[in-house]
Amino acid sequence: MLDICDTKIWRKNRMNDMTKKCYQLARDLTICRIVNGMWQVAGGHGYIDQELAITDMMRYHDAGFTSWDLADIYGPAEDFIGQFRGRVLTLKGKEELERIQALTKWVPQPGRITRSIVKENIERSLRRMSVSSLDLLQFHWWDYNNPYYMDALKFLSDLRDEGIIKHIGLTNFDTERMQIMIDSDIQVVSNQVQYSIIDRRPEVKMIPFCLENNISLLSYGSICGGLVSERYLERREPSTADLDTLSLRKYKKVIDAWGGWNLFQELLLTLKRIAQKYNVSIANVATRYILDKSAVAGVIIGVRLGISDHRNNNTQVFNFNLAKSDSDDIDAVCTKSNDLFETIGDCGDEYR
Ligand SMILES: NC(=O)c1ccc[n+]([C@@H]2O[C@H](COP(=O)([O-])OP(=O)(O)OC[C@H]3O[C@@H](n4cnc5c(N)ncnc54)[C@H](OP(=O)(O)O)[C@@H]3O)[C@@H](O)[C@H]2O)c1
Repeated sequence: MLDICDTKIWRKNRMNDMTKKCYQLARDLTICRIVNGMWQVAGGHGYIDQELAITDMMRYHDAGFTSWDLADIYGPAEDFIGQFRGRVLTLKGKEELERIQALTKWVPQPGRITRSIVKENIERSLRRMSVSSLDLLQFHWWDYNNPYYMDALKFLSDLRDEGIIKHIGLTNFDTERMQIMIDSDIQVVSNQVQYSIIDRRPEVKMIPFCLENNISLLSYGSICGGLVSERYLERREPSTADLDTLSLRKYKKVIDAWGGWNLFQELLLTLKRIAQKYNVSIANVATRYILDKSAVAGVIIGVRLGISDHRNNNTQVFNFNLAKSDSDDIDAVCTKSNDLFETIGDCGDEYR
């Protein structure tokens, strides 16, 4: 019998799965390739009603969107997972809980990190999420000049070996630091980074590195907070005041750095033309484009629980494939843009 742990076979299986809905992030962790992003419940994205939010989480789950991206610092996100799991247990029974993947983060303030600090923080997440082990703990570190991130990763690895954490992932780490981790035998399964048609920084160093080291990418910002959609097609340039979520404001700045509103409109027109061919939306084409990239396990799409709902539309991502000529047309627009690797740097450098 073939051993799924064998890296070569496992990687081949992952690739065969590319157009499908699921991705095997680790031997015992398979996720939906569209992951529900919960930063949107942390404030700055409209008022989130707790009851409506939990009800909405059940709808995502029932539609097959069973994977959630969250963090200890995303307001009530971890508590929502705990409450949602309680609701699932009551309504559907224990077995259904197995279908949920909750990928949280630990985002400590840089400083001296001890074993007990790590344990305390991870145990808090376990309690809030009402789980006995974390599916994936994605680690963020604000300041590379502070070397304690390597201590934190060693203590996290101990917790993984004890079974409290199933897998360790990273978020916003650059290639240079990931190489240091590999050299120190720290095992990580993923890195979560900003990756979109307009922000292609991962392609320069991160993706080749990930392929070499069997690490997957989880991508965010792939539809730029909703700017990559029909809603902004042939629209005048919005001012900051016009943009009513933190996410829209964040990615409008990325568009400005990339090439500005006129070039962005050219991109939206190209995406619309492709979308019409397949009877899908602009956001679907942008998501599909990133999902088709090497090393990408999933695209995280933010969900404003109880406020807006793109479930049905986002399901379309799994129902079509882009032709090479479509990708070529998208890439042709991007050749006119600035190189964000040159202006910002490697993945995550925008946070440092
Ligand atoms: N690690 C990090 O540092 C980091 C940073 C940022 C984000 N993230 C993760 O990534 C997640 C996504 O956040 P993001 O800021 O990148 O936002 P995003 O996913 O680019 O945008 C989410 C917004 O896009 C709109 N949308 C979704 N599907 C759509 C569709 N089919 N058609 C049209 N519009 C659609 C919705 O806007 P409306 O609600 O207005 O309709 C939604 O609120 C976060 O929740 C978080 O989990 C991580």
